[in-house]
Parts: sequence; C-alpha cells; structure tokens
Amino acid sequence: MTTRHFLKDDDLSPAEQAEVLELAAAMKKDRYGYRPFEGPKTVAVLFDKPSTRTRVSFAVGVGELGGLPLIIDGGASQMGRGEPIEDSARVLERQCAAIVWRTAGQERIEAMAAGTTVPVVNALTDEYHPCQILADLQTVRERFGTTKGLILTYVGDGANNMAHSYLLGGATAGMHVRIGAPNGYQPDAVILDRAAAIAARTGGSVIALSDPAAAVQGAHVIATDTWVSMGQDGKDERVAALMPYQVNAELLAHAAGDAIVLHCLPAYRGYEITADVLDGPKSAVWDQAENRLHAQKALLHWLVNN
Ligand code: CP
Ligand code: NVA
Repeated sequence: MTTRHFLKDDDLSPAEQAEVLELAAAMKKDRYGYRPFEGPKTVAVLFDKPSTRTRVSFAVGVGELGGLPLIIDGGASQMGRGEPIEDSARVLERQCAAIVWRTAGQERIEAMAAGTTVPVVNALTDEYHPCQILADLQTVRERFGTTKGLILTYVGDGANNMAHSYLLGGATAGMHVRIGAPNGYQPDAVILDRAAAIAARTGGSVIALSDPAAAVQGAHVIATDTWVSMGQDGKDERVAALMPYQVNAELLAHAAGDAIVLHCLPAYRGYEITADVLDGPKSAVWDQAENRLHAQKALLHWLVNN
C-alpha cells in the first residue's frame, strides 16, 4: 500500500476531498468519538515559521484523536542546524504515526514525504496552505450546504500560498474560483493551468482578473489574506499596489446578497480588510478558524486509514 500524503490541495481527488469534508462535519458533531491514534500514537508537528491556529488546532486535534502531539520548533531541532531532511524523515517515521510540517519551500516538504513511509501533511509552505482550504470549504458547506457551482473570489496577493490553494482546492470542490489581483501579483501560470484542468472535470472554473469589482461581482464567498506573507519584505510597495483590492463595504456591494467573507487570519485591519467587514455580519472567520480543528482531524483520520 502506498502512503498517502497531503502536500498540496490536489493531492486529494474531488471524491476524496468530499469524503474528508463529510468526515469533518461528522467529527464536528461527535467531537470525541473518533480515536485513530489511541495508544497513544505520536504525531510530529514541526514549525519553521510562526503559527497560532495551526499549532493549536493540530495539538488539540491529535489529542482528541487519542494521540500525542509532539510540537517541535524548527530552530530547536537539528534540521535547523543543517541535518538533512531525509535523515530526519527516517528518524521520525520510526516513532511517529504522521508528520505535519510548516516550512518555506515546497521542495522541502516533498523531500520529507519522499523519504518516509508515514503520511506527511503540509501545514503551510510558501506555495500552498491546503489544510486552511479544507477548513474554508467546510465553512462554505456549513453556510451554503454545498460548494459546487458557487463563486469564490479571492482578492489581494494572487501569487501567495492562499491564492494558489484556493485555485486548486476550490476547483477540486467544483467552485468557480476568481482571483482579483494587480499585475505583478497574479497567480503562478502553471498552478492556474493545473486548476483549470481540475475545474474542467468538476464543473467549476478558474480565472484571474485585475479589476477587483469585476472579480467580486455576484460572488458567494469573498476571501482575502495578508498582503505581506511570512518571509516576504517590501511592505510599502505591496501596500501601495494592493490597496485597491482591500475588502471593504464598497467592494462587498458587488457580491451576492448572501455572500460570506473569509480570512485565514491573522488579519491586518485597515490593510487587506476593513474592521467593519472582518467584525461584521458577513464575516465567517471565527467558524473558519474553528474548522481548522475539525477538518485536520478528518484529514489525519483519513490519511492513516488509507
Ligand atoms: N491561518 C493560519 O494558518 O494561522 P496561523 O499562522 O496562526 O497558524
Ligand atoms: N499567506 C500567509 C498565510 C498565513 C496563515 C503567510 O504565508 O504568511
């Protein structure tokens, strides 16, 4: 049996993604009823970048699944001093049931997965944030009963991990994914093509636009993210380019009447989103943050049972 990993959104087929999301909904209803890690088995959760939500939700989630979360900060491990990823992978697999890792380059997590027989989960890389998108899709299903056929517009830095994961994960869920971003902040063309190929199979679609109002027109879900991701600099230049893409009341007026607003958090009020929108009635961000727990528990359960 080959080990299943979750390194990017399209590592799950449309049917598999739906299975995980259904399990996530069931696990939210019966929070302590699933114990795949009883023993306890240990899950290594490694962080090379800061985190609040991901750290808490994996620690709490592994515990609720009957397991032991082992949280390791990259700087405190020997990988931080140059031990090869492949050697770390071989050591971890002898003692852990799964490896969760937040790191920089996607090639690092690909190397970890290639070097181990236990499931590896991407807890954010520079390229993707697939666990976040599972939580977002769970939130959309709760609010609309489905993801299929809905328009999801992401406005802001269209070249970051969240934009790329919305393209791939949203297309997998049969959504119409629009990115609204200025020149220089448009998504990676290869990822856009990959998402288009998935959308052609699921009945969804993907498009990158530069006009924010056109991107938001009629959308059911409006999402944004920080304009300065971890590890990036050039804040002033980024703020100047992205200010027309701020999620505010004026932009939201173009969306569907029952639209919801998502933000993976942490949010910077007054930059990518205004306080009245983030803290207002259309915002679903606190459910979204909670759903990290349920979606990741479902993912881990699914991975270790496959
Ligand atoms: N959304 C998210 O991944 O948050 P953290 O960086 O706090 O984990
Ligand atoms: N794009 C952001 C997401 C944070 C959860 C970053 O990478 O910093």
